[in-house]
Amino acid sequence: MQLLVNVDHIATLRNARGEGYPDPAEAAKVCEEAGASGIVFHLRKDRRHIQTEDVYKLKDSIKGTLDFEMAATDEMLTICMDVDPHLVTLVPESREELTTEGGLKMQTVFDDFQQRVFPKIRATDIKISLFIDPNKEDIELAHELGSDAIELHTGTYANAITEEARKRELQRLKEAANLAHNLGMNVNAGHGLNLQNLGPLVETVPHLHDISIGHALVSTALYYGLDSTVKKFLAIMGNTKLYN
Ligand code: PXP
Repeated sequence: MQLLVNVDHIATLRNARGEGYPDPAEAAKVCEEAGASGIVFHLRKDRRHIQTEDVYKLKDSIKGTLDFEMAATDEMLTICMDVDPHLVTLVPESREELTTEGGLKMQTVFDDFQQRVFPKIRATDIKISLFIDPNKEDIELAHELGSDAIELHTGTYANAITEEARKRELQRLKEAANLAHNLGMNVNAGHGLNLQNLGPLVETVPHLHDISIGHALVSTALYYGLDSTVKKFLAIMGNTKLYN
């Protein structure tokens, strides 16, 4: 299991004043030195946080896994292929949302991904992950497309208010992880994870490979510093980069 830190909100803070700091690439280095296995960023069409220049700086400075999260538009595919990250995580994106609101609806995107998106990425060495909700149908369609990985959307688990709802969501995530693993795909997870809800997730859900954490990690770092905060998250994950 490995921690990939999402640095989008380092850019949000930078953009609030239009100065050159804090710099997502500098922050990324601190995260890697603290033990993170890599970095994630989401280059959005509206460029509300990460800018195109940030992507190239991250590519130059990151030693570990670079995960390019994006909507599967032609513009993003062109940038992604030029940047050549290790992994591309395809997500839905709508202009009004504050953050990604749910997984890809696989039935809706299937034909377009099969005909336009996958052939382009498959011409490169970039691995593909699809951000989906933890349900059987979407996982089976991701497999049918030949995806290397899925990223399970943990937002519904993270937002669950009652203990009963939390348990139900963990169970759904567990079944989804088992199914995706049995179909031969890597199982990643992310969205809404924090120091409180990460422990039950990693204890319950098997086969987790990349865990992508951004907003809560960057927010916690305001109190404790980035280095200590990364170490706090890693301690919950067992402080080991790969153990399954
Ligand atoms: N994974 C995906 C696909 C996302 O869209 C996001 C948010 O950009 C994350 C993980 C990280 O979520 P959070 O910022 O809530 O940790």
